Amino acid sequence: MKTTSPSKISPATSASSPNSSRPAILIDGAGKTYGDVEAVRPISLTIEPGETVALLGPSGSGKTTLLSMMAGELEPSQGSIHLRGKNLADLHPGRELSREVGMIHQQYDLVPNLSSLQNVLAGRLGDWGLLKSVISLVWPQDRQVGLTALEQVGVVDRARVRAGFLSGGEQQRIAVARLLVQDPAIIIADEPVSSLDPARAEEVMGILSESARQAGKTLVASVHSTDVARTYFGRLIGLRNGGREFDLPSHLVTDDQLDALYTLEGLQDE
Ligand SMILES: Nc1ncnc2c1ncn2[C@@H]1O[C@H](COP(=O)(O)OP(=O)(O)O)[C@@H](O)[C@H]1O
Ligand SMILES: [Mg+2]
Repeated sequence: MKTTSPSKISPATSASSPNSSRPAILIDGAGKTYGDVEAVRPISLTIEPGETVALLGPSGSGKTTLLSMMAGELEPSQGSIHLRGKNLADLHPGRELSREVGMIHQQYDLVPNLSSLQNVLAGRLGDWGLLKSVISLVWPQDRQVGLTALEQVGVVDRARVRAGFLSGGEQQRIAVARLLVQDPAIIIADEPVSSLDPARAEEVMGILSESARQAGKTLVASVHSTDVARTYFGRLIGLRNGGREFDLPSHLVTDDQLDALYTLEGLQDE
């Protein structure tokens, strides 16, 4: 090692400094099979920091599977995924992983018996020791951080209300606020607005993409509505039968491409 001159050490080999010039997400031949089903065929793609990417495709096309792999919640059957230069397989669940990536699920997984504020502060759990986490159930820590996030998504007046009493739209905002508090570099969202009526869906998607943009975060979301995708996302990836049909800046995606994506003809049974 002593023979290596410092000038030959490339910054890319320095493990301790994830720098922002690296792709936010680098997928190298990652795929997932369940028995005979190829849920996601091996795919390679790069997503740059600050990009907003929408995954489109009919039910069963592999959106949830691909997003779960990017979020480190599902191990690929083959290939690898790097987040900001770090191999996802090597990141420890908890603090290390939650700094890199956070996921909003189709069901919001809030704790119904806890207040909105306590749910939002749960976004900090990756950062906290067990003791502080337990104490927070009784006495919310970092209240101001949580209240600010609730303010950002427009439901600060619901801070003390139990999550179980909130409407679907409010719960989804709480889930967004929880992610803002977690503050990961990469936000993954799986059909975050599918359970909302179109007007609310548009609103929540606007809040999510705007918060991501303002904070310079990378956002990857599966989206039902092609209009929402075109309005709020810079890049659209079309999935069908577990494979990529297109991957383009959103203004270049044609109506024909979208129609072809959703046509029933040739669609594999789920
Ligand atoms: N845990 C699982 N076990 C078996 N098959 C699965 C599992 N999860 C997903 N699949 C299958 O993988 C395919 C892709 O599913 P999914 O990623 O949920 O698609 P989407 O989110 O686009 O609806 C489907 O055919 C689905 O039935
Ligand atoms: Mg899905």
